[in-house]
Amino acid sequence: MISIQELSKIYTSKKKQVIGVDKVSLDIQEGEIYGIVGYSGAGKSTLLRCMNILERPTSGKVYIDDIDLLSLSKKDLRKARQSIGMIFQGFHLAMGKTVLENVAFALKAAGKPKQERNDRARRLLELVGLSDKADQYPAQLSGGQKQRVSIARALANDPKVLLCDEATSALDPNTTQSILKLLKKINRELGLTIVLITHEMEVVKEICDRCAVMEEGKVVEQGAAYEIFASPQNALTKRFIRTVIDFHVPEELLKKSSGTIVQMKFTGGQAGDTVVSDLLQNYKIKGNILHGNVDYIQEKALGTFVMELTGDPQEVGRAVESLKTILDEVEVLNHDRSADQPVARAE
Ligand SMILES: Nc1ncnc2c1ncn2[C@@H]1O[C@H](COP(=O)(O)OP(=O)(O)OP(=O)(O)O)[C@@H](O)[C@H]1O
Ligand SMILES: [Mg+2]
Repeated sequence: MISIQELSKIYTSKKKQVIGVDKVSLDIQEGEIYGIVGYSGAGKSTLLRCMNILERPTSGKVYIDDIDLLSLSKKDLRKARQSIGMIFQGFHLAMGKTVLENVAFALKAAGKPKQERNDRARRLLELVGLSDKADQYPAQLSGGQKQRVSIARALANDPKVLLCDEATSALDPNTTQSILKLLKKINRELGLTIVLITHEMEVVKEICDRCAVMEEGKVVEQGAAYEIFASPQNALTKRFIRTVIDFHVPEELLKKSSGTIVQMKFTGGQAGDTVVSDLLQNYKIKGNILHGNVDYIQEKALGTFVMELTGDPQEVGRAVESLKTILDEVEVLNHDRSADQPVARAE
């Protein structure tokens, strides 16, 4: 659907060059919700603006449905852009126009007669749940309602792709949830491909099928959202994941424990309870669950459990080894007691 190949954007001012996007290659499939995550300045907006050539890449290629956007004439590019809707953090609504006019105006460029424009605008307002606000002005709306208007407007020309630049960043958590639900709904009902920029990993967890993590203009990791959450590879990705799934075992607990503390990660089809009960049956050890958590990403469970195993140390060792053969991630967390020894001071 969208194919980006070796795309770079370098900003050149009088004295220096700033790399906005650095040799990024991405493939976004039809009908998916694709998240682009990164801290401020990572190059997310630049990359998104290059996807519809609001910004011309310095080098590289952008294909939408196999059309090489950079090879198009101005006129053809304008036409191609009609199949790409865009929404922003700041809504970008015309304040002097009513809600209905804001949406209908987007249809003007397509040359539709007024009645048809208004009818379609009303249907779109219904889709985003704002039928009763048609005659109000943006200033009379909440942030979430404004974003709904801008979504309706972005959908006016029946795009195939919706690009969202921090569409929920200005909204409170509840409103964010309702906008994400709406995006998911239009993704499902209209088969719309959605590219979504965010600095909140929670947003990826909620609705993205796949995602890419960006740092300093580069994509440092990309893949299915579940895989990224289950086994992040890059240090930055790990940091992002921790903002959503922060599994911290208190140091006090580790200090107090006399047994072996293991943290286990359960992915996809693995049933945590069976693994644990088998373990306790097969080895002469005792197990005590200290901590547990299950998250759902793309409706697939991702669980983490922390257990204290006690008994004969060799038997415990064998039990841990057997866990390692069953689960992808088993980590022994025990407190390093050597750190408790007083350090001899050289004076
Ligand atoms: N028009 C411009 N002229 C010069 N440099 C720019 C321009 N636009 C972006 N940059 C630079 O490119 C880099 C990437 O910026 P970009 O806006 O894409 O980041 P971002 O990931 O969207 O950040 P944020 O989360 O803050 O929106 C930054 O170093 C920025 O300063
Ligand atoms: Mg940005």
